[in-house]
Amino acid sequence: MNNTLSVVVLISGKGSNLQALIDAAKVESYPARISAVISNRDDADGLRRAQDAGIAWKVLSHRDYADRESYDRALMELIDSFNPGLVALAGFMRILSEDFVQHYYGRLLNIHPSLLPKYKGLNTHQRVLDRGERQHGASVHFVTLELDGGPLVLQSQVLVLSGDTAETLAARVLEQEHIIYPQAVKWFAEGRLKLVNGVAMLDSKQMNHGTH
Ligand code: GAR
Repeated sequence: MNNTLSVVVLISGKGSNLQALIDAAKVESYPARISAVISNRDDADGLRRAQDAGIAWKVLSHRDYADRESYDRALMELIDSFNPGLVALAGFMRILSEDFVQHYYGRLLNIHPSLLPKYKGLNTHQRVLDRGERQHGASVHFVTLELDGGPLVLQSQVLVLSGDTAETLAARVLEQEHIIYPQAVKWFAEGRLKLVNGVAMLDSKQMNHGTH
């Protein structure tokens, strides 16, 4: 247990990606453990998942702070009290301040429901359907100052089927998210995945941004 990586997971909602990380970390050989889950919403279902797994959880509501900078300062303080080696955003639906991103630079991962750089932002599934795309998917990336624009770590493709709705598509994309996020965290925890001079490297080689 002692040389496992400590991860703080930030959520805002359902927490199915959190669950995937919790489940991965149940395997003894998995090199990371979740030291805390923090939500900006007190009604996030993911908090129950943390509770059920015996993981420390906290709510820090953005409504209690005057602006993004003061909220993010309080959030950093709370995160740092758990001394994590990695912060994993898992459906944390907030834009992060520059100070926050700089503070965790190189140890801040996000999962996004699209094949980035396509479909940054919100409502990705509906936008993919509206554009008549045949391919969709999910991406794990390092977080940098460009929103949803940081270096890619892993992607997984999903075919868009005729008759798909935003909900059916989201469900298939989530299945992939639940595979690639624990994989990316594992690589990071093993010291194989690093952000070097703004480039995502796996085993000291620049990552191929093709899909997996
Ligand atoms: C996931 O699809 C995640 O990729 C997305 O929110 C969902 C959270 O689901 N994140 C974003 O859109 C971030 N911009 P979950 O709470 O069940 O993990």
